[in-house]
Amino acid sequence: MPSRTSGPPGTPDVLVVGGGIIGLVTAWRAAGRGLTVAVVDPEPGGGAARVAAGMLAAVTELHHGEEGLLALNLASARRYPDFAAELAEATGDDLGYRRSGTLAVAFDTDDRAQLREVHDLQLRCGLDSEWLSGRECRRLEPMLAPGVRGGLRADGDHRIDPRRLAAALLIACERAGVAFHRGWAARLDTAGDRATGITTADGTALPAGQVVLAGGSLSGRLAGVPEALVPPVRPVKGQVLRLTVPPRYRPFLSRTVRAVVRGGPVYLVPRENGELVIGATSEELGHDTTVTAGGVYGLLRDAHELVPGITELPLTETLAGLRPGSPDNAPLLGPSGLDGLLLATGHFRNGVLLTPVTGDVMAEVLCGAGLPEVARPFSPGRFAAPPPTLEHSA
Ligand code: GLY
Repeated sequence: MPSRTSGPPGTPDVLVVGGGIIGLVTAWRAAGRGLTVAVVDPEPGGGAARVAAGMLAAVTELHHGEEGLLALNLASARRYPDFAAELAEATGDDLGYRRSGTLAVAFDTDDRAQLREVHDLQLRCGLDSEWLSGRECRRLEPMLAPGVRGGLRADGDHRIDPRRLAAALLIACERAGVAFHRGWAARLDTAGDRATGITTADGTALPAGQVVLAGGSLSGRLAGVPEALVPPVRPVKGQVLRLTVPPRYRPFLSRTVRAVVRGGPVYLVPRENGELVIGATSEELGHDTTVTAGGVYGLLRDAHELVPGITELPLTETLAGLRPGSPDNAPLLGPSGLDGLLLATGHFRNGVLLTPVTGDVMAEVLCGAGLPEVARPFSPGRFAAPPPTLEHSA
């Protein structure tokens, strides 16, 4: 269990490195528990959430081999209604949280066989998902291409607007008394065997009782973290498009629609304000956020196959973000192995979905309790370097 220390007067109990949605929710929930909290980030409220589509898709994003992550995803999905209501009440903002469901469709015999397999996996995991014929899919979503051969209806997969979520979390933090240092964290400071704060890029020392590293895809870059404890997080680029549905065409889609086209996933997420988000590529290119012609072309081509009418819509934004991927695609939550340093990172494809449970889990640990049951499989310790074997150490 991490111990809490108090430093000089004005030292916060908690310093969160990273002001994306994961850092902000950690700060908000910790402040709600009576801790004094500060956040270090040059642009809090930015990060991957600025790009993300905002699917809350525990069911339709279930992948073979990721069944262990499902329990955490479902725990967070269950918290969403209360979490969104509490945040909306705290800030007076509509977060674009809608429980309108998701439809995953197939085009040809191979797609259909693959989707059937996904359906079997969902049913084996006790999830609520209904197989529909192509005609039933088009009855639900008339803009779908006539070639749709069948699909899965998952009414439990919802959506939120991640930009509004980030903006609301920022306001909620400010109202809860969280302090913001607008700059880069450069180095973790330690004394003996514990973290004592950070030093910013301009040389300012910020001592703290506990430090939470929530830097998304940059989490592995903070100097001063002992080598064996550096979070194994890598950037996975996602290019995303935003189209605008003119009022005369609304509602264009009433729920999230997704498919696997040419072996890659494509999804279309509608919003009431006419925004239609199309995502996303998945590219391992380091910290590159260039929007490429190939990325835009591939997304439009695949989305067009799914919903041909998109060609009529204005293309209003193209953007690329970096998912923080971990070796097992699951987050790292809780004590890092160095006293006073905790991790909340590696959320990969599920950062928006996992925001509520991450806030609750981190606040619990920061208050001195152990890692809650639901988060125990996601302790950073699972990646601790194994002791060298005789062969390697010879
Ligand atoms: N969760 C959607 C994505 O990562 O593209």
